[in-house]
Parts: sequence; C-alpha cells; structure tokens
Amino acid sequence: MENKETVVILDFYSQFNQLIARRVRECNVYSVVLPYDTPIEKIKEINPKGIIFTGGPASVYELDAPKCDEEIFKLGIPILGICYGMQFMSNSLGGVVVRGDKKEYGETPIQLNTSSPIFEGLDELNVCLMSHTDLVNDVPSGFLVNASSKNCHIAGIENKKLNFYGLQFHPEVNNTVNGTRIIRNFLYNVCKCSGTWKMSSFVDESIKNLRKKIGDKKVLLALSGGVDSSVAAVLLHKAIGKQLTCIFVDHGLLRKNEGDEVENIFRNQFDINLIRVNAEDRFLSKLAGVVDPEKKRKIIGEEFIRVFEEEAKKIGTVDFLVQGTIYPDVIESGKDKAATIKSHHNVGGLPDHVDFKEIIEPLRDLFKDEVRKTGLELGIPDTLVFRQPFPGPGLAIRIIGDITKEKLEILKDADYIFREEISKEGLGKELDQYFAVLTNLKSVGVMGDYRTYDYTLALRSVCTTDFMTATWSRIPFKVLEKVSSRIVNEVKHINRVVYDITSKPPATIEWE
Ligand code: XMP
Repeated sequence: MENKETVVILDFYSQFNQLIARRVRECNVYSVVLPYDTPIEKIKEINPKGIIFTGGPASVYELDAPKCDEEIFKLGIPILGICYGMQFMSNSLGGVVVRGDKKEYGETPIQLNTSSPIFEGLDELNVCLMSHTDLVNDVPSGFLVNASSKNCHIAGIENKKLNFYGLQFHPEVNNTVNGTRIIRNFLYNVCKCSGTWKMSSFVDESIKNLRKKIGDKKVLLALSGGVDSSVAAVLLHKAIGKQLTCIFVDHGLLRKNEGDEVENIFRNQFDINLIRVNAEDRFLSKLAGVVDPEKKRKIIGEEFIRVFEEEAKKIGTVDFLVQGTIYPDVIESGKDKAATIKSHHNVGGLPDHVDFKEIIEPLRDLFKDEVRKTGLELGIPDTLVFRQPFPGPGLAIRIIGDITKEKLEILKDADYIFREEISKEGLGKELDQYFAVLTNLKSVGVMGDYRTYDYTLALRSVCTTDFMTATWSRIPFKVLEKVSSRIVNEVKHINRVVYDITSKPPATIEWE
C-alpha cells in the first residue's frame, strides 16, 4: 500500500466519511479512511499524495473536540479541510473561528473565485450544500478567501504556497452542483495525482499478488452466491485455477432455482472446483418450531459453519481460507456502534474448526460498487453482479413464525412470480430490494364457489442507497394488480396479497 498513490481521509466523525472516500476513488485515486487520531507515523508511512479532513458535528471550542496531531501541517502534503475540517485547520493555524448561534443548512448559492485551482472549470455562482453552525471569521495568515455566500463571508479558503484548502460547504454530496469536480481539482491540480486507481489494474495487480502469495498451495472458499463471495471466487480462480476449492452450502433457503443457477455459473461457465452441499433437510430440522427471528439467524449461522467445517475436513488441511470482507467492514471511523436491531449473521462467517493457516481477503480494499465493477471486469454475468441484496439467513426471515417445507415452497413460488413481473416491466433497476413475505396470518377467501382459509402474502419493495433508511417503492398499481392476481391463481394456499407501504424507519426492510 505504501507505494500506491493514496489520499488519506481523516475522519472527524463525519456521516459522509465513506462518501468522500468513494468520490475520490471515482476520480481514479485510491483513498483510505482513517480516524482523526491516527498516529502521524502511520500517515507518514502511507506517504499520501493528499489529505482530506472530513466534516463533523463538533465545535473546535468543545473541550473534547476531535483534533489530529498538528505535525500534519508540517508534512508538506496538500490538505483539504471540509466544514469542521476547515474550522479545525483555521483554528490550528492562527485563524479565528466563531460560534454561530444558529445552524445554516441547505442548498446555497456560493460565489467562487474560479481562478483558484480547486474551482477551475466551475461557474462563478455555484449551488452548494451548507450544513454548519460555527464559522471562520478570520483566516490564518498567508490564506486568502476564495468563496463566499450571503450569510457566510468565508465559505472557502486557500494557501497556494502550502497547498492547504478549506471549504465550509460539502463538495462530496449530490446537492452540491459539480462537487465531484471540486474534489477532482484538488486531486489533480493541487495534489498532482496521476489517477492510477482503475478496476482493470486492480484485477491485474490482485492476480499477480495472489499468485505470489499462494504459490502452489491450496485455498478454500465458502461460496454463498452473493456478490462478494462470487467475485472473490472468480478472482482467485483466475489467479490459481484448480488450487481453489469452493464449498457452496445450499441451506435450501435460497430463492427459487437459485442454488442451481449458482452451481451452473461456477461449475459450467468458470470451471471452478465446486462442492455443492444440499443441506436443506438438515437446516429445516434444526429450524423446526423456531419462531424467534434472532434464534433463526443464530441457528442458520451456526449450522452453516458446521456444514462447511464437515466438508472442509474431507479435503484435509488447506493453507488459506478466503473471506469476502469488503472495505466498509474494515473502516475504523471511531464512531460508536449503533444499537443492534438485528444481528446480521452473514453466511460465510469464520469457522472455528477448519484447518487453515492464513486468511486471505482479496476484496478488503473495495467499496461495494467497486466489487461490482471488478465482477464485470472478470466476466461474471450481470444478473449475478447486480443481484439485489439477499440476507444470509435467506427465506427463513421472510416466513413469519415457524418454517416448514410447505411454507418454503409457497414463498419461493410467490416470490418468483413477483420478481418475474418486475423484470417483465423493466422495473428492476429502479427498485433496490423487492421480495415476498409469507405472513403467519390466515384469512377467509372465496375461490369459485368454495370458501378458502389460507395465507396472506405480503409484497415488499424499497428504494434506498444505503439500506439504513429506505422508502417504500411506488410500484404502479397495474403491476401490483397483475402480481396479486397471478399469485392467488398460481400459488396454492395464498388467497390474499397485501403491499407493504411502510418506510424505514420506523419499519425495517425485512419483516424479521
Ligand atoms: P433491515 O431488515 O435491517 O435490512 O432493514 C437491511 C438490509 O440488511 C439485510 N439483512 C440481512 N443481511 N443477514 C444478512 O446478510 C441478515 O441477517 C440480515 N437481515 C437483514 C436486508 O435484506 C437489507 O438489505
């Protein structure tokens, strides 16, 4: 990593820390997010081309305000301070920050000095997102003001000699027009980056490094059919071919036909050494009578590991075990962990009893969208690369109450019809996650001349970017009507279909 052209994002508890890192990468420059109190030695070791201070909720006047080592200003490395980052920089270098009495929030026209290297190519009046209380009232000596608005006379500062820049607004969010251009200008005009971060070079470099590290040794991977483990599998296969064995534990809780599709892609398209374990009966017997969602998750997570271990034992000692960890899992932002609403037991957790010497995490530097780009680069079909997220415990948490084979089949068939109709209508790209839920509710219906007493099925679809919050999707009524009518006609034991119109919060995306 030391030799890679890198920009360090120093996180002062910003809600946008990952967004800034992704924007930098979209400009073809590799970035890492580090906590604000990262030791200066570590930053020197990375030898970054530039440093970005994020925003954050603190005021420089608070006693416990986050502050980084001020040595950072002596490294001769360009710095861009955003919002709190600009206030921290100004305060540290002798400027004056004043406490505002009310927050300025919203999209605000800002006058830019377009002869500044970071505003090159922008219009003189640019709409930017402001979100701050404190203000810089006096710039440190050697600095100039390069942006201002009606309520904020110092909305941007620069010291061209030191290559230090500050922005009171947020260039990383979409609400700031041409925000990415400002970040790009900082990277190329100020930090003089050359833009070497491309997924094609990531693939080539990873293959080279994996070959070097693994040599002629054996590698084991737990394949779930999800995007991360699939991309990791194909990347390793390209690097070491048959030295890789993938174990695909099919717990029977995947969507209709999915197990066969996964097998087909990996065995036939890529000729990967694949062991498929059909363990549906085993999982269903462990889950029999269990109604508590957290218990279901725990049982599935643990059983998955047991099955994986048993299969791995048959192979004997392996040298490496692959984990599909991605970058958001490894960022240490210093933020407190939020309360646990659901424990996300991801299939593919770390087994205790598999004989391996070392773990390999080939995707640990990548954001999710970069994992997808890598997948396309490797020739994995679009249908898999752009698959909607699917929870590790699968359909078990979409059957409310206890799980039986019969309920599972009902849900698989109904869910398949929903997905088929969405795809026929070409709506798939607009909806971020959509699925059916088998409620535990039975109600009276009439079919032909007969009374029925059968299950109610719920359809759920959400639009979201981060899955932390979501709004219910406005699927056209005519599509919902077709789905509902097909489901009650084609799937036995469903006589009523409802559509979930709750956003998150207060609801969660999954029903369990
Ligand atoms: P919720 O229901 O918490 O879901 O709003 C947010 C996202 O997480 C997925 N999800 C899970 N993923 N294991 C997973 O791997 C789980 O136990 C789990 N529970 C929810 C859910 O599908 C949505 O994308």
